[in-house]
Amino acid sequence: MKSKVYIETFGCQMNVADTERAATGLRKAGYEITASAQAADVVLLNTCSVRERAERKVFRRIGEIRNQAKASGRKQKPVIGVMGCVAQLEGPSIFQNAPSVDLIIGTRATDRIPTLIERVQGGEASVIDLDERQEGEVWDVSPAERRSPYVAFVPIIEGCNKFCSFCIVPYSRGREKSRSALEIVAEVQRLGSLGYKEVHLIGQNVNSYRPKTQQGLEKYSGATPFSRLLRAVGDTGMERIKFTTSFPRDFHPDIVSALEEFPNLCDWIHLPVQSGSDRILKAMRRGHNSEDYLRRVDMVKQSKRRLSLTSDIIVGFPGESEDDFAETMRLVRDCEYDGLFIFKYSKRAGTPAASLEDVIPEGEKTARFIALEELQEAIQKKVYGNYVGRKVSVLVERESARSSEDMTGHSTCHKVVNFRAQQTQPGEVVDVLISQVKSYSLYGELLSERAN
Ligand code: 5AD
Ligand code: SF4
Repeated sequence: MKSKVYIETFGCQMNVADTERAATGLRKAGYEITASAQAADVVLLNTCSVRERAERKVFRRIGEIRNQAKASGRKQKPVIGVMGCVAQLEGPSIFQNAPSVDLIIGTRATDRIPTLIERVQGGEASVIDLDERQEGEVWDVSPAERRSPYVAFVPIIEGCNKFCSFCIVPYSRGREKSRSALEIVAEVQRLGSLGYKEVHLIGQNVNSYRPKTQQGLEKYSGATPFSRLLRAVGDTGMERIKFTTSFPRDFHPDIVSALEEFPNLCDWIHLPVQSGSDRILKAMRRGHNSEDYLRRVDMVKQSKRRLSLTSDIIVGFPGESEDDFAETMRLVRDCEYDGLFIFKYSKRAGTPAASLEDVIPEGEKTARFIALEELQEAIQKKVYGNYVGRKVSVLVERESARSSEDMTGHSTCHKVVNFRAQQTQPGEVVDVLISQVKSYSLYGELLSERAN
């Protein structure tokens, strides 16, 4: 009988994409993928370590799985494996801290999981693989393993070379490695023919995209390989193309030009600033100051298209004074973001910032978090208010959680939009006329149902 594998995913879109890829490989190797941890012979946790809280969650979950297996009285405990960033960073120490773990799978071992599981099932204890990817590894993801039948994540670059002083990602995901443009374009074309309506080109820094060869980009102009890739992907005719995350230092005008040329490149840019204070940006080793950043924001705001802009900010970085924080508040006021993800600084062992003194007390971090959140809420109300009376295109995802008469989806500018359902089905792209602003979402009336 086939072994059943259950994979639980924490963290970012890259982890979601890795889970899909792992599931594809496992099914190919004869395993069954199950949606139930209790029914599984193998439980894999795909983990995140970007902040301490995410990391602690993993160890809690391992305990729960072990206890549930014991309580169920099953003869054999499931094989427990840890994959993703925590696996890569903590390595063999996980075996000591959580003895029920049998298998540790690093961030570049996704394609070797079937053989690793076989080794555990063959009786080998404490199996671990933290090695690099092999040349020529396949990125194929079977549609059956994708989280959504309409929206697909397509990794274009893995890893990070930036080494921001607070961030663990360069250590957990290794150096930047770009996928070939030919392969990316072929995948998007295949997704189009399977009926996908939207792709997200993903990577820690998509605009640092630098493939080994220009193959697949020859026909497309642009000052950087990323803007040429955007044009190449735009040219596939895929209905909606989003991309995230963009790194400020590598954000050039050619990206905005590509968005102006191809209407199917969506009107949304996620451009994390992290702080508004030049002193803190320097300590964060971001490679940009507030002026560099605001120049990029201007470029976005000056575009012929109205482009939605979102960002990430960390509050309470070591040494962040009241004045530094006031500068962050000022920058947020100036940028008028469409959305903002705020994080309290979390110390990550092994990063340069971990050894910095002048730690900000937790209470102060919380106070700054709340102040920034309130400011953004007021800004967002205004930004969202400008949508009233405007038509947005929405990819319908599901019934709204609030009311079974409403459907919900995302606009091209990546806002949540709810509307009265009528005959609309998930997967359709519809036009909605915005009539009301809710907190963190827009509400409107269905204008038309396009033939899909
Ligand atoms: N503490 C808090 N937030 C962090 N991020 C990355 N590392 C940390 C950390 N140590 C945030 C950044 C990044 C987002 C994905 O997570 O804002 O853009
Ligand atoms: Fe982390 Fe900076 Fe790389 Fe983003 S760019 S993943 S914040 S090191």
